[in-house]
Amino acid sequence: MKLLFTIYLLVAFNALSVLAQRAFIGLPTEGATLTRGQTFTVQLVRPNSLQGSTEVGLIIGLAPCDLFGPTPTCASPQSRIGSILFNGDYKPQFHEQPGRPYQNFTVKVPAEFPTGQAQLSTARFHLVGISNLNDSEKRRPRPNPLDLININLPHVPETGLTHDDEYYKDESDTGFCIFRVENTLFKVHKCYLLREPSIFSDLLSLPCIQGSKEGLCDEWPITLSDTAEQFRDLLWVLYATPAQLLLTEQYGAPSTERILNIAQLANKYCIASYEIWAIKRLSVLAQSPTGFLRHASPELCARALEVASLVDEDLQNLLIHRLIPRMLWSTIDCKPILAVAKRLNIPVLQGIAYYKELLKYERHEKWNVWRGAGPSEPQFPEDMDEKTCEGFMAAHNSLVRLWEGLRVSPPRFSADGCSDHSMCMQSWREMWTSATGSIPTQRHASADVLGRLRATMIVLKKRMYEPHVMPLECTMAAMESIASVRESIVEGLRDHFHGELNV
Ligand SMILES: *[C@@H]1O[C@H](CO)[C@@H](O)[C@H](O)[C@H]1NC(C)=O
Ligand SMILES: *[C@@H]1O[C@H](CO)[C@@H](O)[C@H](O)[C@H]1NC(C)=O
Repeated sequence: MKLLFTIYLLVAFNALSVLAQRAFIGLPTEGATLTRGQTFTVQLVRPNSLQGSTEVGLIIGLAPCDLFGPTPTCASPQSRIGSILFNGDYKPQFHEQPGRPYQNFTVKVPAEFPTGQAQLSTARFHLVGISNLNDSEKRRPRPNPLDLININLPHVPETGLTHDDEYYKDESDTGFCIFRVENTLFKVHKCYLLREPSIFSDLLSLPCIQGSKEGLCDEWPITLSDTAEQFRDLLWVLYATPAQLLLTEQYGAPSTERILNIAQLANKYCIASYEIWAIKRLSVLAQSPTGFLRHASPELCARALEVASLVDEDLQNLLIHRLIPRMLWSTIDCKPILAVAKRLNIPVLQGIAYYKELLKYERHEKWNVWRGAGPSEPQFPEDMDEKTCEGFMAAHNSLVRLWEGLRVSPPRFSADGCSDHSMCMQSWREMWTSATGSIPTQRHASADVLGRLRATMIVLKKRMYEPHVMPLECTMAAMESIASVRESIVEGLRDHFHGELNV
């Protein structure tokens, strides 16, 4: 005997999902006719959604509709799924190109199913946004959460259970603490503040005054002296997942400003592990050829220097080392860095900032080169105070003398590796004299010792690497000697400027 069914097409509902990412039943089509005990194909199509979601499980059910009303009505699939035809994994795949991922399920109408209209529905369990599709394809199938619950533990009286020493937190550890920073209130889980020894753990373990509500409600917040942004950045790191801390590139790297705030506040509140994390992160960024020191604003570079001085000497030295070439050879405004260098007493950066400032006033007419005129003279703005003018003038004269001295005494280097050192030295002196007097070198202002030295190196490189000029070992030693002379000039720049100049 044939029993007729009408199958209504219904969309899936999502039991565990945060956002509805609806799959739909592609087959059978609405109004299809089935018989008791018949096997048929349910095709569940998954939309190509942008956001990744992880399938956890699927139930397919068939429910009879109410046949006795004026028009037959079916319960909403959320309230009634009916006889379960399938319960298992949902692993939609691409079968046709182009097409959408789907999976076919072969199911059977139960033998005792009532006749009449029925509705087919599915309940899909999936977790949205946990991973992208790529990851979920690589991972092992996600276990069903219900399988993880042990229902076989024997009953014991309450006295038979113990509280874990470390991980059975009492109320005071698991609650919140309210802070006011500027005009913003923050409600922070205490467990994050108590994770490791810090000023916060000291603060929260102080004996409470009976009835005190400090930190417990918006009216009585604990007030801190940071900025809201700094405190927010500290909380970001306290709440961050390991992936955010370790694999920062993939998981949205925190900005340099944020890392600086974290370093500063972790230091201030003595949260050692996060301070170490921030220092490591800043060192990596500072060493990277594309890191922030290459392009960040002078204000941010100055702030990095300031934070580094608080937290770690090696980091500070690294930043100084990396800032030197940027200050010397780019057009960066050195004033913000100079202000910090003065406060922290970093002579090398002060020297470079003053030197760059002096070069702004060096008027060097190109035709001087041709006419063999004497050294150029700086011209200072009219509103510059007398003491500063004098300071710069003295520095100008001192740097001009330094260059004159360099011209007549080429950098020395040892005979190591040179087959014929006296011949080598002879050629070196000749080349040095000619390169320091060359037009590219003389184009730089007379006090621009470093610009002149750089031009000299370029001229020398071109000549010395021509064959038969100098043995290679000798050439390399000569180049190294210029580099070390340059380094010592940079280190000593500050000494040419006496006292504090008003820049
Ligand atoms: C799924 O079922 C439909 C209908 O029976 C069929 O046309 C299709 O080829 C099946 N797809 C796969 C991958 O089996
Ligand atoms: C998925 O993987 C491919 C190749 O492995 C890659 O090109 C693509 O960017 C990845 N997509 C996501 C969202 O990670």
